[in-house]
Amino acid sequence: MLNVILLLTESVMSGAMDPDYKVERPPSSYGSMRSESEESEDEGGEDKEVAMILPGFIPIGETRMQLIRPSESPETLYTVTTQQPPPGAAVIDTREYYSDNYDDVDDEDMEENLIATSPEPPEPVEPDDTTQSDENCRLGRMHPEQDLPHIFRSIQSALANLTEEELYFFKIGVSSFEKSFSREKMMEGDLLDLVDMMLEILGQDRSLMVTINTLESIKKKSLAEKLQNECRRAWTRFQLREDLIRKHQIIFEGVPRAGKCKPLDVVYVEPQISTCCYGGVDQSHEFHSHPLQPLQIPSPDTFVSLNNLFRLQKADGSPVRTVLTTGIPGIGMSVSVAKFCLDWAKMQANRDLQFVIKLSFHSLWNLRNQNLPSPKYSIMEVIKYYHPECKDMRHLDKEDCKFLIIMDSFDCYQAPLDWENSPVINDNYTQAHLDILIVNILRGTVLQGALIWILGRRAAVSQIPSNLIDMVTEIHGFSDEMKDDFLRRRFSDAEQATNILEHYKRLPTLCMLACQPFVCWMIATVFERCYRSYQDYGENPPRLTPFYIHILVVQTNRRLMFYYGKQENNLKWSEDDKQMLIKMGYMAFKMMERKTSVFYEEDVKECGLNLTEVAVFSGLCTELPAAASDRRRTFCFIHFTFQEFMAALYVFKTFHIDNKNVLDSHRTLHIFKNHQNKSAALLQSALDRTLSSPLGDYDMFLRFLCGLLSPACHDKLLSGFLFPHNTPTVAGREKMQQLLEKKIQTAPADRVRNLQECLREMIQEDD
Ligand SMILES: *[C@@H]1O[C@H](CO)[C@@H](O)[C@H](O)[C@H]1NC(C)=O
Ligand SMILES: *[C@@H]1O[C@H](CO)[C@@H](O)[C@H](O)[C@H]1NC(C)=O
Ligand SMILES: *[C@@H]1O[C@H](CO)[C@@H](O)[C@H](O)[C@H]1NC(C)=O
Ligand SMILES: *[C@@H]1O[C@H](CO)[C@@H](O)[C@H](O)[C@H]1NC(C)=O
Repeated sequence: MLNVILLLTESVMSGAMDPDYKVERPPSSYGSMRSESEESEDEGGEDKEVAMILPGFIPIGETRMQLIRPSESPETLYTVTTQQPPPGAAVIDTREYYSDNYDDVDDEDMEENLIATSPEPPEPVEPDDTTQSDENCRLGRMHPEQDLPHIFRSIQSALANLTEEELYFFKIGVSSFEKSFSREKMMEGDLLDLVDMMLEILGQDRSLMVTINTLESIKKKSLAEKLQNECRRAWTRFQLREDLIRKHQIIFEGVPRAGKCKPLDVVYVEPQISTCCYGGVDQSHEFHSHPLQPLQIPSPDTFVSLNNLFRLQKADGSPVRTVLTTGIPGIGMSVSVAKFCLDWAKMQANRDLQFVIKLSFHSLWNLRNQNLPSPKYSIMEVIKYYHPECKDMRHLDKEDCKFLIIMDSFDCYQAPLDWENSPVINDNYTQAHLDILIVNILRGTVLQGALIWILGRRAAVSQIPSNLIDMVTEIHGFSDEMKDDFLRRRFSDAEQATNILEHYKRLPTLCMLACQPFVCWMIATVFERCYRSYQDYGENPPRLTPFYIHILVVQTNRRLMFYYGKQENNLKWSEDDKQMLIKMGYMAFKMMERKTSVFYEEDVKECGLNLTEVAVFSGLCTELPAAASDRRRTFCFIHFTFQEFMAALYVFKTFHIDNKNVLDSHRTLHIFKNHQNKSAALLQSALDRTLSSPLGDYDMFLRFLCGLLSPACHDKLLSGFLFPHNTPTVAGREKMQQLLEKKIQTAPADRVRNLQECLREMIQEDD
């Protein structure tokens, strides 16, 4: 008997995991009590198909966020799914907190924790039992009550209580539930055959679900309940798995229409994740670089794969409890969470985690704002609120319960959290305000057994005291091979993929930017559309300015949706929204004049901006890890070129709308009655500045300004967003063109290439 079960265990388990396995399965595994006939071989073939479809639950559309512009704006096609979901939290400077309250703690130490460079290269801890190195172990060892033998025995003993007649109806019920069951075969075998067959075809969790449901339908409620109780952990896991698969199996992109949603498994490329956190801003630049800090390029031995995050160890060798993952906007945090969940739910990784429960800060923030009569919950109530299907979660209290709570989008939670003074809650059933509950989850006083994974933009998560975090990791985006892989996976047509790959690589700046998965996704979306819309598209290299405008528009719309709860069909930019971007442009311009790439809190204030909105919500900036030498919080744009783009946007806007030339305070543009001369005058002063500054200082700025001066950018792409629809286009392009052409003749050799690019940005019209 025991033998049989063990054999079955192997066969069913590997069968559920690996669709190909059946080809090689030992003849005795299925039907260990039956001879291997040809018929059963055929049957096996069919089973194989079944097993392959099984993990693919029906894609029910839990729509992930999308941006749908009401108008026929070019942005209609883009969405936000591939991007990190933004969210927002008030930012509290924790450094003061340290100095005030941790006088006895070595500052050096604190700082190091805050920068969170892991002391050791991460050595994945082998899950539980290191003596075994089989598949089962690599994937994580399952809790016995969630493992097959237990489920097998429980189902079998429940069915053993049925009379012959009841068993007959049970079989009828099961076979009508699942078409893949052959009714004759079910009737033939004995009870063990039946359970074996169900487990083999449905996998362990679904067999349990089908058995319970069928027992209920044949009026054997008490048996169903008993089975459910016996297999409570497996049952709960099944509910959570189904929910996660339903939510994450498909990634929705663009306006939902046929063929536009893609299976996450197919399109996902895992970005580099490192325990060395340098801020995540790619420091390369086409012309120059102003290294932000002593360069600390993470070496591959600090990389950790997504599914190994919770196999990292603390400095003392003990396993981590809280892992914080951060990164710049668009680096793929939400997609990585989705993939982690999906791998667990498909039992392809981390099977030692009995439960994976998502408590996104986005949902918690919504719950907090619901204005219910009592704004207090216990942690168990919160979990139950989001997972009502899991009825009874008492096992979360048990010592042997290893489970993970994923709390992503920390920046969405916009209330200040009082890390220091929040009352301590150490009971899973005590009700408290959500703010307090959150602090206590991180402290580890409620749900001590839980592993916690927190994700958020750095400027938001930097408020979390480092003593509450065991390990900080940073998503660093794609390597060159990953960029290619990402783009190739998206197109079934290899030629199309090659076209787009070669196309974007003609722009060095775009290549650098493409290490951000969000940008890679934009490349795929934008250029796919260009190739579709224009005949002979691709002869010219792409232009940079339209691409940056797309990013600006998408990020700004996401800000409105995620942080301000705007509906996707109501994303009109308010005066404040526009003002914020222009002020950010002003700040960028001032930074450029000061030859710096970083800004501080006071710079933000000086420009009349709100720190949280700039550093967290805008999606265009990020915080850098605190440097040991400078205790001020330091920020920068997500890429140097973004600073240059924003500066150009500011100069262009003051010209276009306010009729001013900020590049030249002496000459006012009002003297130009003739519009033709006006734009040429602006360009002239930009050229003067660029050519009189060292190579690189203003070169990219000039390129973006030239791009913005073309109606294809300021009119087609920005009106309706930054500018009113009926704003006249900039006149005098011919004059500007002549000016540039003349400069190309006379400029020093090392400036010519950029000037040619500027000309192209201004006059090329094919995108
Ligand atoms: C099932 O059968 C066993 C032994 O025959 C008995 O002890 C048990 O109470 C039965 N369970 C139910 C739920 O009927
Ligand atoms: C709360 O749950 C944890 C498991 O996450 C458990 O270790 C602890 O004993 C529980 N506490 C209480 C008071 O039930
Ligand atoms: C900045 O914006 C955040 C989020 O909108 C808000 O909570 C905060 O009060 C603002 N701060 C200031 C100083 O206005
Ligand atoms: C504008 O340009 C025209 C033709 O190039 C020139 O004759 C005229 O003097 C210019 N006007 C100003 C105010 O510069």
